[in-house]
Amino acid sequence: MTPALSVRNATKIFGAQVALDDVSIEVQPGEVRALVGQNGCGKSTLIKILAGFHAPEPGTAAAVGGTELSFEDPVASEVAGLRFVHQDLGLVGNLDAVDNMALGQGYITNPAKTIKWRKERAHAREALAALGYDINVKIPVAGLQMSERTAVAIARAMSDRGSPVRMLILDEPTANLPNAEAQRLYQLVRRVADTGVAVLFVSHHFDEVFEMADSVTVLRDGKHIVTRPVEGLSEEELIELVVGRKLEVHDRMNADEREHDQEVLTVSAVAGGSVSDLGLTLHRGEVVGVAGITGSGREAVASLVFGGMERSGEITVGGKTLPPNRPDVSIERGIALVPAERHANASLLEQTLRENITLVDPGRHMTLGILRRRPERADVRIWLDKLSVKPAGQTEYTMTQLSGGNQQKVIVARWLRQEPDVLILDEPTQGVDVGAKADIHRLIDEAAAQGTGVLVCSTDHEELVRVCDRVVIMRRGRVAEILRGGQISADSITAATIGRDSDESAA
Ligand SMILES: Nc1ncnc2c1ncn2[C@@H]1O[C@H](COP(=O)(O)OP(=O)(O)OP(=O)(O)O)[C@@H](O)[C@H]1O
Ligand SMILES: [Mg+2]
Repeated sequence: MTPALSVRNATKIFGAQVALDDVSIEVQPGEVRALVGQNGCGKSTLIKILAGFHAPEPGTAAAVGGTELSFEDPVASEVAGLRFVHQDLGLVGNLDAVDNMALGQGYITNPAKTIKWRKERAHAREALAALGYDINVKIPVAGLQMSERTAVAIARAMSDRGSPVRMLILDEPTANLPNAEAQRLYQLVRRVADTGVAVLFVSHHFDEVFEMADSVTVLRDGKHIVTRPVEGLSEEELIELVVGRKLEVHDRMNADEREHDQEVLTVSAVAGGSVSDLGLTLHRGEVVGVAGITGSGREAVASLVFGGMERSGEITVGGKTLPPNRPDVSIERGIALVPAERHANASLLEQTLRENITLVDPGRHMTLGILRRRPERADVRIWLDKLSVKPAGQTEYTMTQLSGGNQQKVIVARWLRQEPDVLILDEPTQGVDVGAKADIHRLIDEAAAQGTGVLVCSTDHEELVRVCDRVVIMRRGRVAEILRGGQISADSITAATIGRDSDESAA
């Protein structure tokens, strides 16, 4: 059989950094291949070479369906039959789904070159319906849910552009997707593969590797470590292949036995966005989780409490009432927020890691109006090390020079460094590899041990089990249930978020 894709001796060097080191892989038609490895190991780089975005080093070759691929030419990649959904989706936020789908493929026009809008919209709707999505194609995609935006990006990738689709390549397609939506994507991927199209997807979620992939390729530090069938592989073995050593698992000690009596944050009768009634109390040194399916209100909790959204109700911090809609006052009073969707909400991509970390307190290393650079760099370096940001010690790199997961670690570092009284984390380990995830969880423990009250909103239920003393379950905009201590397990959280109680069917 002619492979759908064969890559030979792929190498890419950025400055002094070998991002990809002599990697060769083959993927057969109809095969679903997972591409895994730690943050910065070269996954996106490989994909961007295939997309014609990065020029590889000489000696690199690739063929699609037996035909040699010319590099640095996005059109050639597309004509060859490669279709991509990139890590940041590559959508333009202020354009609607129709315009986004037309980007790169052109609009449907009549002979006079005027755009046939009605046909264009119908086409977009159809493509999305085929993926199981019913989306308003006329509003800017920035106003859509993350999962809906992912669907738009996939629909765009798969839509007919005059050349047959041989391979669909997805870079962390489910990083932003809640579990139920991820299930829809799995089905979609299988459907695509059953038509003979090869699929290559990058993921840090190993359950999804086992669920979706036929085979898996592991990269470490830019090198090919192994390609093998998923069958017969255990999760433990895969983690070891990725990290290169056995991962130490620290269970949180006596989580349910610790006493928390000093209130640091109270939220009562708060409503706004998809939340109709939120009430909770956070104590010093306590980690409280917020779980819920999309639409339950979970996705709005972090922003509501922080002050980034219109709301009613009452919030106090350290006993003082917090005015609504004043994130500046929130920061002053010691609240920190690590938002979800770091690209849109948090990172200054063209600025250095140092600037991204110190922007919340630029005066910390100022004496008599003069900024002392050296202590500032040393301080920043400590935090980059704590989160094992790669490459190590590069305070003057810009965010764009980091891999996606490492960018996330920088944003987490920014706020942990503030030693806030209240730390709100929204999907803190999204796109972060297994090793770094363990690091972030340990740092959450440490922050709590030092007295910070931590609120973790997450669709990763294992994560909530790992870090939380209590888990607040959101359903239909309100707190439906609170799980504590021994009641907290991934299954109990999942069951509770779906909700079985009669009050809802009656409502
Ligand atoms: N534009 C760039 N300029 C300089 N270095 C870069 C650039 N893009 C990536 N790198 C470096 O190349 C290496 C590989 O990055 P890549 O984005 O391929 O990682 P990744 O495996 O996709 O990681 P993640 O899981 O975090 O997304 C990293 O060390 C990164 O810092
Ligand atoms: Mg990446």
